[in-house]
Formats: sequence, C-alpha cells, structure tokens
Amino acid sequence: MTLAQKRDLISIEDLTNDEIEEIFRIADGMLPENRSSLGSSVVANKIMATLFYEPSTRTRLSFESAMQRLGGSVISSPDMKSSSAAKGESISDTARVVSSYADVLVVRHYWDGAAKVMADYAGIPVINAGDGSHEHPTQTLCDLYTLKREKSAELKDLTVVISGDLKHGRTIHSLIYALARFGVHLVTLPAKGMDLPQYVKDKLERDFRYTLAPAPANDLQSIVKKTDAIYLTPSKPNQQALFPEITVDIQIRLQDRIPKIDAFYVTRKQSERMKEEKIGEDDYPKLGSDFLKNKRFTNTVVMHPLPRVDELSYDIDRDKRGIYFKQAAYGVPIRMALLQFLLDKARVNKPPTKTFLAYERPAGLRCSNTNCVTRTEPQSAPLRFETLFKESGRKFVVRCCYCDHQVNVHCVGHTSSKKYWLYEFERFRTVSEWLAAKELAIFESIKQAEELGYKPYKRGPQKKIMDERDIQKALDSMSEAIWKETEDHHRLLLAGIRTKGVFLAKRIAAYLQRKLGHEIEIVEVDLTSESLHKLSPLDSEIDSINVTNRPVILVDDVIFSGITANTAMNIISRLGHFQFIRLAVLVDRGHRTLPVKPVYVGKSISSSEGERVEVLLHETNLTKKDQVVMYSIVNPIEQHTEGLGA
Ligand code: CP
Repeated sequence: MTLAQKRDLISIEDLTNDEIEEIFRIADGMLPENRSSLGSSVVANKIMATLFYEPSTRTRLSFESAMQRLGGSVISSPDMKSSSAAKGESISDTARVVSSYADVLVVRHYWDGAAKVMADYAGIPVINAGDGSHEHPTQTLCDLYTLKREKSAELKDLTVVISGDLKHGRTIHSLIYALARFGVHLVTLPAKGMDLPQYVKDKLERDFRYTLAPAPANDLQSIVKKTDAIYLTPSKPNQQALFPEITVDIQIRLQDRIPKIDAFYVTRKQSERMKEEKIGEDDYPKLGSDFLKNKRFTNTVVMHPLPRVDELSYDIDRDKRGIYFKQAAYGVPIRMALLQFLLDKARVNKPPTKTFLAYERPAGLRCSNTNCVTRTEPQSAPLRFETLFKESGRKFVVRCCYCDHQVNVHCVGHTSSKKYWLYEFERFRTVSEWLAAKELAIFESIKQAEELGYKPYKRGPQKKIMDERDIQKALDSMSEAIWKETEDHHRLLLAGIRTKGVFLAKRIAAYLQRKLGHEIEIVEVDLTSESLHKLSPLDSEIDSINVTNRPVILVDDVIFSGITANTAMNIISRLGHFQFIRLAVLVDRGHRTLPVKPVYVGKSISSSEGERVEVLLHETNLTKKDQVVMYSIVNPIEQHTEGLGA
C-alpha cells in the first residue's frame, strides 16, 4: 500500500455517512452471536501497533481484542513513557519507524492534531484513538451504532441531550458533528463555563448549517420554558437551545419542558485538560436515578463514553435504560468492522475529497490553540491553515488543518513589499491572488505584523496624544501603584512584552529600585519564539526563570484586542503557577476581543479599529523624544493593490 493510497481515520469527517453505514453493516456480522460464521478476513495475519501516550481501558483493549478476533496480531506500547518518547523522540520519527513494523497504527495522544501528524509521516493507515481535546472518531462510531441498535435504525429525528464538559470533551466534538450530519436533534447542556468551543460551533454552522442561538446566561427558567421553540433541528437552522451556566440538577431543569428525549449522553469533567479552570461541585450536571422516574423519560436511554467519575450515579446501572456498558461492548464489533474497512485494498483509493485553499508555512501567523501540535512539536507539524472567507461576518478566518481552531485575521501583508493593511472583505480577491502566488502574509494583530518588520501601507494624518512629560507622569504613577499594591517586593517579576513593553518594564523597574534599594528581576516575553529571556539581574548565578508563587507584572505599550497580552500570559503560565499576574499598559485603546483587563493604565483613549496608536521611545532610536501618536492606517484602493505586491 503506498502513502497516497492509504486510508486514515483522524476525524469523523474522514468517513461519509454511507461509509459509516457500511461499517455498521460489517459490524453486525462481527457481533458475538454472528462471529461463528466469520470467514477469513483481510486483516488476518496483519499486525496492528497501538501507541498510547495517554491512559485507556476501552479504546486500546477493544482495538486489540478486535484485531485478534480477526486473526491479526498486536504490538503495543500501552504507556509511551516506557518507549523512546520518554527520551524525546518526535511523533513524526515514531510514526515513520512503527509503520515499518506494522500494517495499521492506532494512536492516542494528549496533543490536539498529533494523530494527523502521525498519519502524515506513517506509510500505513493511522487511526485516531483520541487527540487532546480535539476528536475521538472511533468512540463516535460506537455511540452511533449503540443509538441505532438500542433506539432506532434511523438516526434521523432522534433527540439527544449531551451534557457535561463540552469544552474539552473530544468524544463530544466528534459526536456532535456526526449527529448533525445524520439529522439528529441535539440539545447541549454544558457545565458552567464548559460550553462548546467557538471553533466547534462555527464548524457546525459553516459545514452542517447548524446555527447556534445561545440562550441568555444565568436565565435557566426562561431557557427551559423556551426550549420547544429554540432547540436545534437540523432542517431548520437558527434553532438550537444551549443551556449555559448550569448549576442545578438535570431533572429539575428538564422536567416537563422538552417534548421527547431519546438519549441522554453524559460525560465526565476532563480534569486532566484543565489548567487554571476551577469548577465548583454544584456547577457540573450530575445524573441520578431519580431522573429516570419521570414519565417523560420512560424511553430515554442513558449513554456515557466512560470512564465515569461522579457525574453518573451507580444506581442507574440497575436500570435497563442505562446502556453505557453495552455501548462499551460494541467497541469490539465496531473496531473489527473499522479495521476490516480501512485495510480493505479495494477501498483505499476512495477517501472523501475535500478541497480548500491552503495557507502553508505562513509568515507570522500561528495556531491559536496552545495545545496544538504545531505549537508543541513544530518540527513535525509545518503550519497549514484552511482559509475561510466569511461573507456573513465579512471576516477572514483561517482554520488550523491539525486541530480545527480558528484565527481571525486582522491585517494582511505582502511578503516582498513588507507592507500591511487592515483586512477588508472587499479586497478578498487580492488576498486570494496573493495566497495563490504564496506572497500573502496574514496577522492577527498589528503588533504581530510590526514585530516581523512589516510597515503600514500608508499613514493618515498624525496627532500626538502623549508627550514626554505625559509619558513620564503616567509611568511614575503606574510604578507607584505597583509599589503600593505589591506586598512581596523581593519576589516581584516584571515581564516586558517585546519590544516596547521591555523598555517600559525597565523604566518601571528603575523607579521601584529607587524606592526599594534592591534590583527587580526583569524578563522579556518574546511572542514570536514563544519564550522568556532573562534581562536582569544578568550577573545572577541562577539562569533559569522561576515564576512559581511570584507576583508578576506584565508590561506592554498598548492594549487593543487583548490577544497579545493573553498570549504573553499563556507563555508565562507554562513555567509554573505564579502568585498573580497583573497587566500594566501605557495606553488602553478598548476594542477588546478577549476578556483581558489591565490593572495599571497610563492613559485610556477612544480610538476606532482602523486607527493605529504608536508609542515612540528614545530607546528605539526612532525619535529623540518619547511620544505617543495616533494615525489612521490607509488601505490601498483597489487598483493599487497590485502595485503593492510588485
Ligand atoms: N471511552 C474511552 O475512550 O475510554 P478509554 O479512555 O478507557 O479508552
């Protein structure tokens, strides 16, 4: 089998509905009662490798059981900590090597997109057994098959409630795409703060015409009352009920409100994927046996991908509507059928085709997901984005080809002229042409463009909004407030965002040093390389940067969308748990797209999105005197955009 011919299963999107139905037909023949009539399989004498970088009971053991029942054999690394991954071997090298030992590779990994990378390098079919918070397509095959066998052969028009951690749950993400495709009515019931990620909602809307209409937060009664009117029907987009901010028991919320519930799909809190998030006991939906006593739920089955923690009572095990152990048992026939399907040479030339405009190895841009394999192992995963021009929002969005997370493009540039301008929907033709010619640079912020040496296409008239004295006064007052509001001055860490934030951090440090009589540690946050560099004290015997339990002040020149500050905070938080992190900025422009609020602000101004606020500091040699100026960025008119790229 050549690389071009092989068939992988990375996302549930890799299978058409017809193919899923075909796998189910094969699975029927693989059920225990039908296995005695199994003939010889295309899988017989083949070898399956299972590489599990994360723990598993069901997925790995049911795959291994499936392979052995088909007459194949298994080589397994059930805990990759005992493999050469522990010595730092990359996933791309691992995939290359293992594909010369086996005929099919099943992989589970904690990074979003890791299974796709392994598929890109392996010469054999790769099956995703769960990648980070992204997808778990074979669990979805088990779930759909269970619904078909236990509820209705026709999935269309079933109503399924999905509850729990919809944010991190990979089983949920694959499942809702599939349910949407099969025409299932879907009610999402997230735990507090664990709603579906935006990229999943956007994909539902864009690819399956499911439009989300989020109900008002903290207004449970009105949400429940309006449920009939707003819950999702695939045939009528724009109708979906979300149940945000859930704090009480499910049985209270749903009683007598929803006409028909065929299945309740419960999931556990994915604690292993949570960093700073704290969820209270009462904020997570828990299903007890009382729930099933209501007449409304006489025919409602309860499903769970397992393992469970405390969101599903053991009492339900005794009720025939609790079908989660059957669901787990179907893992064997389903995975037997999948192996048979993927290894059947007659099928390998027919993967579903997906064409899109790809933005590859871009200048400047990176995936917005810090757990994406492009961020964690960039040497194996060259950046690749699908470009999506959203006519509705007049936005330019790119979607990571590994993890599906999206980035909103704020400005675009030309790689030769090194000029940027603010993206406008009207220019999307020019952008497409540059993209096709591999001359397009795209940025999520002006800061990102300028740090990479891009200049505005043209400036409008400029006005000064702060002079040298204003800047001095503002910095003094910010420094004084930092001094007063920080208790542990000896452990204080100033983190300046490169480039201007570093100069401002140094000035704040100088003020504090005059007050305190001792040196303040300063680090530079480099967003391009996503790293921290120690700037002072340089003669310190300890080179490494320690943030644990320390008060951290993050310093930047201007805050606008909040993306820069948020990225910088993520970089710092990777080093440990700080005592607190507070943001200090010389100028706050508003227009935040992320909920980031500076604590210390030199000056707040009102400005439009098309304007640029530039802080000029004498350290950068661009001007002798400090000043802050504001000007508009003039975009090229249509006939001049071609010249821009010349
Ligand atoms: N449902 C599921 O993926 O279970 P395991 O983590 O035990 O494989």
